[in-house]
Amino acid sequence: MRERLESLRTEALQEIQSATEMELIKELKVKYLGKKGELTAVLRGMGSLSAEERPVIGGLANEVRAALETAFAQKSESLETEELEAKLQSETIDVTLPGASLEPGSIHPLHSVIEQIEDIFIGMGFEIAEGPEVELDHYNFEMLNLPKDHPARDMQDSFYITPEILLRTHTSSVQGRTLLAKEGEVPVRIIMPGKVYRRDDDDATHSHQFTQIEGLVVDRGVSMGELKGVLLQLIQKMFGPDTEVRLRPSYFPFTEPSVEVDIYHPEKGWLEILGAGMVHPRVLEKAGYDSERYTGFAFGLGVERVAMLKYDIDDIRHLYNNDLRFLRQFKSV
Ligand code: DAH
Repeated sequence: MRERLESLRTEALQEIQSATEMELIKELKVKYLGKKGELTAVLRGMGSLSAEERPVIGGLANEVRAALETAFAQKSESLETEELEAKLQSETIDVTLPGASLEPGSIHPLHSVIEQIEDIFIGMGFEIAEGPEVELDHYNFEMLNLPKDHPARDMQDSFYITPEILLRTHTSSVQGRTLLAKEGEVPVRIIMPGKVYRRDDDDATHSHQFTQIEGLVVDRGVSMGELKGVLLQLIQKMFGPDTEVRLRPSYFPFTEPSVEVDIYHPEKGWLEILGAGMVHPRVLEKAGYDSERYTGFAFGLGVERVAMLKYDIDDIRHLYNNDLRFLRQFKSV
């Protein structure tokens, strides 16, 4: 029995020494020290020993157990350290590597101009309304005092979808919609930004799709002077406090009188940026407003025009092509 214990010790210590993984150590522990392990099996045979032999073999068995336990503990510890080091090695992060750079985007100049104008009007107590781009002829023309055979319809070449439906040619189409929704209530003080469409050939200053901001005020005693004041506020906030403004008589079927508004550009001279006027009584009546009690003014502004002047852009197509070399110049705008 002594030999069995001795050879068990040698064999076990060797196996423990040569183990290279924690898994193996666990298996060996079961193999030697477990309930069905080899040392346990030897101890079970102690019963057949003589009374003198028993304490001697018992002492040896305890010695072997203690030796194996120490060997297991030491090996476990060294394997754990090794494994941790290997893990640290393989997961090392090189903090000096350059990161993947995420280039932040920026607001498109056209959108930025819309936001600036919206802010100016919100500051003057206006609300913002929107309408559909695919519009009924009724709102785009009829309600704006432009019946079917009206010659002024030729002023705006239109994309018709059916005889009654078209891509709106101007944001003035939202006027009738919002007035009807207000059901005769005053004051009406709204701006209506959005895309509009015309059957134009695209070039440096024309686009078949562009952007307008419509304005509409209806109340008791609204005057041309108020229109002028509001537009002067807008223009001087957008182009600087010394910007000169000129109102030229013009014609629109939905306003009477009508004006076109020019601003003075130091290099380019007088430039038209919007159309405006006092809301035609017929437009008020069609939307259910008593034109004897109420008056109003309206205007329609070309957003691209404003953006091109403000940022010195020489071709309207730059605003649609999304060339990053162009767009990056507006990061701080
Ligand atoms: N709708 C006109 C256009 O697109 C612009 C315009 C002129 C709008 C006068 C108005 C207005 O509201 O009063 O050419």
